[in-house]
Amino acid sequence: MDREPQRNSLDAYWMPFTANRQFKGNPRLFASAEGMYFRTTDGRAVMDGVSAMWCSNAGHCRPRITEAIRTQAGEMDYSPAFQIGHAKAFELANRLAAMMPGGLKHVFFTNSGSESVETALKMAIAYHRLRGEGSRVRLIGREKGYHGVNFGGMSVGGMVANRKMFGTLVAGVDHLRHTHGDPRNFFSKGEPEYGAELADDLERLVQLHDASTIAAVIVEPVQGSGGVIVPPKGYLKRLREICDRNGILLIFDEVITGFGRLGTPFASQYFGVEPDLVTCAKGLTNGVIPMGAVVAQTKIHDAFMQGPPNAIEFFHGYTYSGNPIACAAALATLDTYEEEGLLTCVASLAPYWEAALHSLKGARNVVDIRNIGFMGAVELAAGPGGPAQRGFAAFLKLYEAGLLCRTTGDSIAFAPPLIAEKSHIDFLADTVGKVVNNID
Ligand SMILES: Cc1ncc(COP(=O)(O)O)c(C=O)c1O
Repeated sequence: MDREPQRNSLDAYWMPFTANRQFKGNPRLFASAEGMYFRTTDGRAVMDGVSAMWCSNAGHCRPRITEAIRTQAGEMDYSPAFQIGHAKAFELANRLAAMMPGGLKHVFFTNSGSESVETALKMAIAYHRLRGEGSRVRLIGREKGYHGVNFGGMSVGGMVANRKMFGTLVAGVDHLRHTHGDPRNFFSKGEPEYGAELADDLERLVQLHDASTIAAVIVEPVQGSGGVIVPPKGYLKRLREICDRNGILLIFDEVITGFGRLGTPFASQYFGVEPDLVTCAKGLTNGVIPMGAVVAQTKIHDAFMQGPPNAIEFFHGYTYSGNPIACAAALATLDTYEEEGLLTCVASLAPYWEAALHSLKGARNVVDIRNIGFMGAVELAAGPGGPAQRGFAAFLKLYEAGLLCRTTGDSIAFAPPLIAEKSHIDFLADTVGKVVNNID
């Protein structure tokens, strides 16, 4: 079969978050994937430097996951999500809860990071109402945050391009300032020294709106899509303290940082901060099948479990919540992570990763380098063509040179699969150095 797409067949697919006309003029097409590599339709190997979209944490086409999906598809393809259950959904909820710290023990399944965020925001508002604090309806996000593309997530998100076209968004949302850009923090290794006091923005918002109106704060422990913005030392702990003092729920959006990215199962464990709700997706199934989850503290879950036992406690859910094939994929993914020690292995290679990335200091136009766990970003100065042009040029040239990354503005972001070895890290750093030094 001729797998080369016909030029006139590219029109129908309206691609997400893509410059469609530019792409279709010169398409980039993957045909297969295995381990650390994609292969293009013209047979070139491209090393995965960003776990595809921060999701293929165990690398590609892992046999256990593939086989679990095949078996489940033949055994029970679908089962209703409401008022009927199946064993794998319960098993997966238990497995996931066991990976979380402290009282995070109750799991609600969704199909994506965006849906996890909507679910968590709804849980937060409903939780307060159930406890007789129905005035707590405000949601606080953070500038440069990314929480998906649905209305709640877009509203608490802080990326201008994702928000500006879509009207007034959800009412009653406010934002903390982001923590990026203090020159004293440029080229920090791991958590930057300066900026913990930016968490006090929450105090300011409490003064402005009154705590009795605020339901929850949502942050990514490390901002991923915003360009790998690592929280300043002590920032997240301070946020937790302010939330506690004011009865505000803290939501960690761990869609990227979950499942071993920082060398602990979740970033919550890395930073020693326990949130009230955790959202996850991506690495839950190694990116193979759409699935997400919200993990809630027992106090939140239990607040819903009141009234007559035949009453539905939470009027929320999706046709594909706990889909059996997704559950089978997730269980096989967790098996793979556990068998290969992937949820913690990054801790030992992170110093090597840090050194490799920071060896790029001094390369052409590099103005900042950030890293934590197996995440990192190399930020370039904006080029003469305006912001993001140089970053995108780097993306294209890296792709041609056999390395997949993601760019946001002029930051080139990396998050290699957790199976990456030193040789892969060396290739990544060498390739980035060569490419960046050849971009005007
Ligand atoms: C922190 C965070 N939250 C939510 C999302 C949205 O996830 P999805 O694209 O699966 O809806 C993403 C996606 O990158 C993310 O990074």
